[in-house]
This record gives sequence, C-alpha cells and structure tokens, in this order.
Amino acid sequence: MRWKTSYAKPSSEWDARTMDERPDLDLTADERLIEGGVVSPEDREFDVALRPRSLDEFVGQERVKEQLALLIEGARARGETVDHLLFSGPPGLGKTTLAQIVAHEMGAGFQPTSGPALDRPSDLAAILTNLGEGDVLFVDEIHRMPRPVEEVLYPALEDFNLDVMLGKGPTARSIRLELPRFTLVAATTRPGRITLPLRERFGFSPRLDYYASDELATIALRSAGILGVHTDQDGADEIARRSRGTPRIANRLLRRVRDFAEVRHQGVISGDIARAGLQLFEVDELGLDRLDHAVLATLIQKFGGGPVGLSTLAASVGEETDTIEDVVEPYLLQLGFLQRTPRGRVATPRATQHLGITAPGTLPL
Ligand SMILES: Nc1ncnc2c1ncn2[C@@H]1O[C@H](COP(=O)(O)OP(=O)(O)O)[C@@H](O)[C@H]1O
Ligand SMILES: [Mg+2]
Repeated sequence: MRWKTSYAKPSSEWDARTMDERPDLDLTADERLIEGGVVSPEDREFDVALRPRSLDEFVGQERVKEQLALLIEGARARGETVDHLLFSGPPGLGKTTLAQIVAHEMGAGFQPTSGPALDRPSDLAAILTNLGEGDVLFVDEIHRMPRPVEEVLYPALEDFNLDVMLGKGPTARSIRLELPRFTLVAATTRPGRITLPLRERFGFSPRLDYYASDELATIALRSAGILGVHTDQDGADEIARRSRGTPRIANRLLRRVRDFAEVRHQGVISGDIARAGLQLFEVDELGLDRLDHAVLATLIQKFGGGPVGLSTLAASVGEETDTIEDVVEPYLLQLGFLQRTPRGRVATPRATQHLGITAPGTLPL
C-alpha cells in the first residue's frame, strides 16, 4: 500500500503521519483492559504489527469479506474505483483494518483523517484537492464530522466535484474544481447518528458484528505467531472466551498473558496460565472487569436490581454516562445481564447468578 505523505496541512491536528501514529485521532481512549477502543501507544504499535494486510488474512466476518471481494474484483475488472463504503460497528472489530485492506487490494493510496479533525469545510477541501487518482480517503468516526463539512462532501462523493467560494460579499463567486475519482471509506461506532443524505451516498454499508469464540482463538493464535509467543489451543480458547467478541481485546489480553507467562512460566501460554494471568488482571471468565462488576453490583445491591436511570447509575460508580452507555452496557446487554427499559436499567437474574450476589431482602438463589 502506498502511504501518502505529501498532502497539505488543513488543520492543526493534521500531519503527515499515519492514523496509527496519531494518538490525537484516538477518540475512545480509556484505560480499561477490556475496552475495544484504542488505548495506549503500546496498543497502537501492536495494532499495526498485528493488522491483517489482505482479505485472506482477515479472520471472520465471512459475508462482509465475500461482498467486499466481489466489489473489489468488479471495480478492478472495469478499471474503476470501488463504491464509497461505510463500515459500522463497535470499536476494535476491524473497521480501520478493512479500510486499509480495500486500499491495499486496489493498489490505491490511503489517506486517513477523522470526522472531528475536519473542523471547517476548508479542511476537507484541502484533503480532497490533494487526493491522487483512485485513492482511498478514510474518514474515521464520520458521525462526528460537522454539518457544513458534510455538505461540501456531497458533490465530491456524487460527481467528484468541489465548489469553492472565493471572496466575500458582492464580489464573491464560486468556482467548481474537478477532483480525481476516489473512494470514501468511512467508519463509525454510531451509525444511527449519520444523516440520511450522507448514508444514501454510500454504495455499500456493512455492519461488523462481534466475533465468535473460535474466530477470536484463531486471531489470538495468529497474533501469537507474529509475536513469537508459544500458545496452545487451550490458551488461545481461554483468551478468546474473555475477549468480548473483539479482536483488539483478544490481542491485548494475549499481550498481558504473555507478560505473565514470560515472567512466571517459561513463556508458554497454556489454558491454565491464561486463566491465572487473566485472573491477576481481574478479567473474569466472561471477560467482565472491575467496572462491569461494579455496575452490576451497584444495580443489584444498591437499587434492588433496578430500574434505575443511567445518570444515577453512572454517578454511583463514579463514571461518565458515555462510558457506561458505550463501553459497559453493550456487552452486558449482549450477555443478557442487563436490560434497558423506559424507566431505567434493570439487572437480570443471570447477572445476579454470575456475580453470586443477591439484592438485599431477597433470598439467595
Ligand atoms: N478480522 C480480524 N482478523 C485479525 N485481526 C483483526 C481482525 N479485526 C481486527 N483485528 C485486529 O484488531 C485490531 C483492531 O482493529 P481495527 O481495525 O483498528 O478496529 P476498529 O477500527 O474497528 O476499531 C487490529 O490491529 C487487528 O490487529
Ligand atoms: Mg479504527
């Protein structure tokens, strides 16, 4: 893949480094081990090293892969660019990876930016006018792109045209610039926040789902191979089970277990060592950590299982409502440990059972 390094500098955050080297583009930073958003510079480094380069290397999401392969092959055969693509899904599932793979498979340049980095229409204009023929323009977190910028994007997506206003007042005039043909690949964790007119301009908008355990084990084994850590199937399965369906978390748990194995157990990761290592880092057998436990325990013990409002719940565990809503709840909902009702959050009997606690005044199960 060609990395472009010679484009203009449309805003102060922008520079010529790649996405992975730009922590300022990281919008979901958090210190939790089991959080899917990118965390540390260390994470970033490993993300790059462990990132699949081709569709063949990309594990799982079989349907999306097949669809993408078809789109790419068709475009290549016709000598055209691929339709604009929108990848949605929770953090850490491979959206950025797939965007890079599309560029790679098309032999195209990859030009990354993000919604919040595009402050003003001129920021976008500077990037668009610097695109090369056939380039992939990657816009991460596109739901956070300001509306005036979005409006500049429409004609660019549709006809590869850019209308630029020159001057102000009575002498102002607009000129139309022709852009090279390019493919917009956008990513979002919040597809619901994307306006309809923007959504309609994508030719294909796949949603990435959480991965199955066996796929995560395959990813853990592949990563272990790249990192040169001995891991047996049992060890990989144990890591997979606790990864919340998320490849980035699988890779992160693998690294923590590797540390544990190297310091205490001659470096080989077996099932027992994975279990012991993850216990040390307080990741339980379902991948829940201290914050998940705190949320559930608070809900059950302090609020009698609910319903309780999101902001009350967040305040009780000392967290931002956004963190609870974006990071904690999706997985608890998926496990069937939590329900969102019109009157607030409710803990289910399954949660109670998993934690081995009961609400005050009720009989133990
Ligand atoms: N399908 C996959 N197969 C193998 N590794 C993957 C896959 N999806 C994601 N990863 C790994 O997880 C990391 C995070 O993926 P990324 O594309 O950055 O996620 P997102 O952009 O959705 O947050 C990547 O560095 C890569 O190592
Ligand atoms: Mg990403």
